[in-house]
Amino acid sequence: TDKYAVVGYPIAHSKSPLIHRLFAEQTDQDISYEAILIDNEETTFEWSMADLKQRGYKGINITVPFKLDAFEYADTLSSRAQSAHAVNTFLFDDEGKTHGDNTDGIGLVNDIEQNGQRPFSGQKVLILGAGGAVQGIMEPLLAKNPASVHIANRTAKRAEVLGNRFTTEIPISASGWEDIPCSEGYDIIINGTSASLDNKLPPVSEKVLTPDSLVYDMMYGAEPTIFMQWAKKHQPACEVMDGLGMLVGQAAEAFYLWRGVRPETAPVIATVREMMA
Ligand code: ATR
Repeated sequence: TDKYAVVGYPIAHSKSPLIHRLFAEQTDQDISYEAILIDNEETTFEWSMADLKQRGYKGINITVPFKLDAFEYADTLSSRAQSAHAVNTFLFDDEGKTHGDNTDGIGLVNDIEQNGQRPFSGQKVLILGAGGAVQGIMEPLLAKNPASVHIANRTAKRAEVLGNRFTTEIPISASGWEDIPCSEGYDIIINGTSASLDNKLPPVSEKVLTPDSLVYDMMYGAEPTIFMQWAKKHQPACEVMDGLGMLVGQAAEAFYLWRGVRPETAPVIATVREMMA
């Protein structure tokens, strides 16, 4: 049995052990996967990693608040980890080296393209927020060739800085909430602000919505998020998704990195959703 774990603080309510157990059953892989608390008062991230390696763990997922520590700790970084400036997955190799990757962005992209059945190619994309969560999705999203990307953020400057980091043929623009160009609306709208955590809405005009929009909130819960409710209220025909599929999707890519098999996410999303109800 190969050993894996997720580390974070707090960690008790992590859904990752359940998700990876379902993946292992689905793909017939012999693994264990636990949730491990790293309490900074008692230990350090570095010490914990050395300990897990020494105890024979093959790979680790890293969640809040250690994704930047993980980025610093890794011996090698994938291009998507470099671009995200954060690491959520470690692969420990036989020589004791730590390979850092970031599967959050591809998790979101796959969720929208496969489970939402909405390929990014040719789509006008609006992203709300310009923090760590959004930085993590930019490279995988741009790789899918959207028609354009507009980043809007409370602090407009931060959206501009983020947009300017990418060299691409795809037009990227940026603004504050008030100046989002919205004469035609957007095909895909992604809320990556942490406002939802406080049950707050980013103050965006409903004109960004069209009946064909796919509205995605990176946050998830037992009930539709406040952002999904806002979209449905103003544009009942639009499609809404929450971030549970992104959580399962990032786990699926980590599982693939470790095991070389890519699990199906849809049945796992359904099971986790049922358990949340
Ligand atoms: P994360 O890792 O969750 O992205 P972060 O890097 O702190 O965390 O970024 C939080 C994002 O949510 C930022 O885009 C932030 O806007 P600012 O850059 O202007 O700070 C946004 N955000 C946080 N609270 C918000 C609120 N109440 N309303 C709107 N946007 C908010």
